[in-house]
Amino acid sequence: MTMLNALEQARAAHAARPTVRGLARGFAAAAFAAVSALCASAAVAAPAPASADAALVQRGAYLAQLGDCAACHTAPHGKPFAGGLPMNSPLGTIYTTNITPDPDTGIGHYSEEDFARALREGVARDGHNLYPAMPYPSYTKVNDDDVKALYAYFLHGVEPVQQANRDTDIRWPLNMRWPLKIWNAVFLDKGVYRDKPGKDVAWNRGAYLVQGLGHCGSCHTPRGVGFNEQALDESGSAFLTGASLDGWFATNLTGEHNTGLGRWSEAELAQFLKTGANAHASAFGSMTSVINNSTQAMTDSDVNAIAAYLKSLPAAGGDGGPAYAYDPQATKASLARPANDAGARVYAAYCMHCHGVDGRGFAPMLAPLAGNPNVLGKDPVSLINVTLNGTGDLVIGGIPAPYPMPAYAGTLDDRQIADVLTFIRAGWNNRADAVNAAQVAKLRSATQSAAR
Ligand code: HEC
Ligand code: HEC
Ligand code: HEC
Repeated sequence: MTMLNALEQARAAHAARPTVRGLARGFAAAAFAAVSALCASAAVAAPAPASADAALVQRGAYLAQLGDCAACHTAPHGKPFAGGLPMNSPLGTIYTTNITPDPDTGIGHYSEEDFARALREGVARDGHNLYPAMPYPSYTKVNDDDVKALYAYFLHGVEPVQQANRDTDIRWPLNMRWPLKIWNAVFLDKGVYRDKPGKDVAWNRGAYLVQGLGHCGSCHTPRGVGFNEQALDESGSAFLTGASLDGWFATNLTGEHNTGLGRWSEAELAQFLKTGANAHASAFGSMTSVINNSTQAMTDSDVNAIAAYLKSLPAAGGDGGPAYAYDPQATKASLARPANDAGARVYAAYCMHCHGVDGRGFAPMLAPLAGNPNVLGKDPVSLINVTLNGTGDLVIGGIPAPYPMPAYAGTLDDRQIADVLTFIRAGWNNRADAVNAAQVAKLRSATQSAAR
C-alpha cells in the first residue's frame, strides 16, 4: 500500500467515524471550527452602534484573533466569548469568564479603563485579582491603541450573551485571591512593549506580537517555582525554550538545531503558522487551537514579522549535541527483520504504511518522523499523547485537515506504544531517549479521564 493510499483509506475511515475528541486539551479545548466560524459571524452579525467607530471595531476583531481570546473564552459548543471553558491550574480548575457585553453576566459595565486593567494587570472591574491562567503577564505589553480597539470590539462588535460565570473548583484557603497581589508584585513585569532601538520594524512587530497578544511564552516558556514563565522576552535564556503543559510539550522555538527551529527557514515557519504544516512538522495538540483561532488569520506581514523575530532568537535549551543528519541505514535493516525488535514490529504493523520505511513522511500532508523536532525532544509527552489520541481538529480556511493521524489508545497497550516510540526516537539517526510504559500509562489515564 502506498502512503497516499493509506492516507486516503484513513481519511475515509475517519470521516465515517463519529469521533469524540474530548481529549485533555486543557487550554485549548475550544479548538473547533464551528467556534471560529461563529466568532467570525458574531463579529459581523452584531450591528455596531452608530457611535462606535466601525473601523476601530474591525481592527479590534483582528486583534482579538491575534490574542486568541476565543480559544479560552469560548467553551466547546458554547456561545462565542461567553466563557465557561474549564482550565487546569496547579490549584484546581478555573473557568474562563463571560467577556461578551452583557451588562449582568459579562463585561457590559466595563469602562475602557476597567478593561485595560483586566487585560494588562489582571484585575477585574470589582477589584478582585484574576488568576494568571488569563495571560495578562503577556497582555501587559499591549499598547494603548490596541487596547482601545479591543475594547471597542468587545463592547460593540460582540453579541451579548447572558451566561453567569462559574466559580472555580479551588477550595478554601487556596481560593483566596489576595495572594495573587503578591504573585503580581514578584512576577508581573508591568509595562507596554517598547520598540528596541537597533532592530528593524518587522523584528519589533514580531517581538510585540510574540511577547504580547500572541502570548506564545505562556505555553512555550518553562515555568518557575511560582508557575511563572521563567522569562518574558529574549533577554532571559529560558525564553521559548519549550515547556510541558497539560499533556503536551510545546516545542523549543529558539534557533536550536535539533529540538528547536534551527533547521527551519523563515518562510517555512510562516507556512506552519498559516497552514499548520510544513516540510518539518505538522501541528497537533494544544497548538491546533492556536492555528485554528489565531495564527492562520494573521496578515502576511504579521506572520512574517513573527517568523523574523523567532528566527533571530539564538539557540538555547539544547543538549549541545551535533546537528541532526539523516541516516536511514540501521533503521531500514531492523525494519527488514523486525522479529528481534519489539518497536520495529509495532512500527511495521501499524505505522509504516503512512510514515514510511524512510521515516520521511509526505510533507506537508504527513510530517516526517526523521529529524522532527518533536521526535528529537527530551520530553516525549507530545509523542505519547498524539499516538494515544491522534490528531484531527486542525481546520484551515474552514476545511478540516484531510489526513489526521489515527488514535491508538484502543489498539495498542502501554508497552507497545513505549516500544514503537522508542524505535522512532532511535530511528533514522534521531538519537532521542527511550520511552517507558509507565510514561504512557500516566498519560493514558490523564487524557482518558479528561475525555469524560
Ligand atoms: C489562556 C486562556 C485565556 C486567554 C487566551 C484569554 N483569557 Fe481572558 N481570562 C482567562 C481566564 C481563566 C479568566 C478568569 C480568571 C479568573 O477568574 O481569575 C479571564 C478573565 C478575563 C477578563 C476578566 C473578566 C471578568 O470580569 O472576569 C477579561 C476582561 C478578559 N479575560 C479578556 C480577555 C481578552 C480580551 C483576551 C484576548 C486578548 C483574553 N481574555 C484571552 C483566560 C484567558
Ligand atoms: C496553548 C499552548 C500554545 C500556545 C499559546 C502556543 N503554542 Fe506553539 N505549540 C504548542 C504545542 C503543544 C506544540 C507542539 C505540537 C506541535 O508541534 O504542533 C507547539 C508547536 C509549535 C511550533 C512547531 C514546532 C515544531 O518543531 O514542530 C511552532 C512553530 C509554534 N508552536 C509557534 C508558536 C507561536 C509563534 C505561538 C504564539 C503566536 C505559539 N506557538 C503559541 C502549544 C502552544
Ligand atoms: C493513516 C496514516 C497514519 C498512520 C497509520 C500513522 N500515522 Fe502518525 N501521523 C499521520 C499524519 C497524517 C500525521 C500528521 C497529522 C497532524 O499533525 O495533523 C501524523 C503525525 C504523527 C506524529 C507527530 C509528528 C509531528 O510532529 O507532526 C507522530 C509522533 C506519529 N504520527 C506517530 C505515529 C505512530 C507511532 C504510528 C503507529 C502506531 C502512526 N503515527 C501511524 C498519519 C498516520
